[in-house]
Amino acid sequence: MKKILVTGGLGYIGSHVVVVLQEAGFDVTIIDDFSNSSIKVLENIFLITGIKPSFFEIDLKDKVKVDTFFKANKIDGIIHFAAYKAVGESVQKPLDYYRNNLEGLLNVLESMEQYQIDNFIFSSSCSVYGQADQMPIIEKTPLKRAESPYGKTKAMGEEIISDFTKAMNKNAISLRYFNPVGSHKSYLLGDKSSGIPNNLLPYITQTASGLREQLIVFGKDYETKDGTAIRDYVDVNDIADAHVLALQYLLHKKNKDKLEFFNLGSGTGSTVLEIIEAFERANNLKIPYTISNRREGDIQEAYADFSKAKEKLHWQPKTSLEISMKTAWEFEKKLKENEFKIPNH
Ligand code: WQD
Repeated sequence: MKKILVTGGLGYIGSHVVVVLQEAGFDVTIIDDFSNSSIKVLENIFLITGIKPSFFEIDLKDKVKVDTFFKANKIDGIIHFAAYKAVGESVQKPLDYYRNNLEGLLNVLESMEQYQIDNFIFSSSCSVYGQADQMPIIEKTPLKRAESPYGKTKAMGEEIISDFTKAMNKNAISLRYFNPVGSHKSYLLGDKSSGIPNNLLPYITQTASGLREQLIVFGKDYETKDGTAIRDYVDVNDIADAHVLALQYLLHKKNKDKLEFFNLGSGTGSTVLEIIEAFERANNLKIPYTISNRREGDIQEAYADFSKAKEKLHWQPKTSLEISMKTAWEFEKKLKENEFKIPNH
């Protein structure tokens, strides 16, 4: 049984990936520092799969703890999610982002070198493309300067991994996610960040549940069909599946380059207003919203061409936007229910 380390395995995408890895027969170990997650996620993973993953609470900046972990655990492959991800916060606290996202990555890569681990999957982002000149975006689309320190840590991460894999003869894949949405079909895992959500879908679900008064739509003066910005919303379960395929691709040595990049998107661009409407239609609800100015650093349009992932990883998105909208809402409702539950003693 191959042993896979998932860093940040209690986060939104990481937790979904842990479940599909376990279902595919991998022995999963999680490292997480609870900076944007909770122990409850570990229990929920167990409720879904019936398998308790090994878990280590480690901040990856702690080199000594990281080294102790790798010394004691033989790992066949690493999927690296652990990172801060709030775009706006990264503009306010750039050094925290560079230190956390890059130092964590460097410590993991150093351990790969020291403990002879060959395979690495990096959690990257469509933000590395900036405002691309052509749609849909392919992996060869030239990268523009990322706007936020968050986006820059992803672009720099890819550069670091590229140099590292060449020098040390390691194999890596960088998965560039577009906008992940939806939740696990059990509604036990989903997008639950602490504080006010930055991303559109959690903001919509929190508005629907009454936690937020209304949604603010950032900008209606873009050159798009209804004036609001276009993104590629892709179901988190589909994204999770791609990690298993990417891992098998590396383990079976199918890669030609030391580092390969794949876009993970639905291939369809949706405006903010279309997403609101899709959510309302799927769940028979009304979302109160107002229009305000553009959000700083936002781009007008991004959607993926995922044909490279289809051809090489045999991956394609399976979940409709309607289903993602429904599961996102079911997850939010379940969260609310649980908040009011009095624990049994
Ligand atoms: C989507 C659209 C907003 C909130 C970023 C990162 C990316 C990925 C996901 C991190 C935009 C609009 C949003 C709101 C709104 N990484 N919006 N009102 O900016 O495409 O991508 O997050 O986890 O790497 O760059 O995602 O969900 O923030 O925004 O109108 O309250 O919704 O302006 O057009 P984004 P998002």
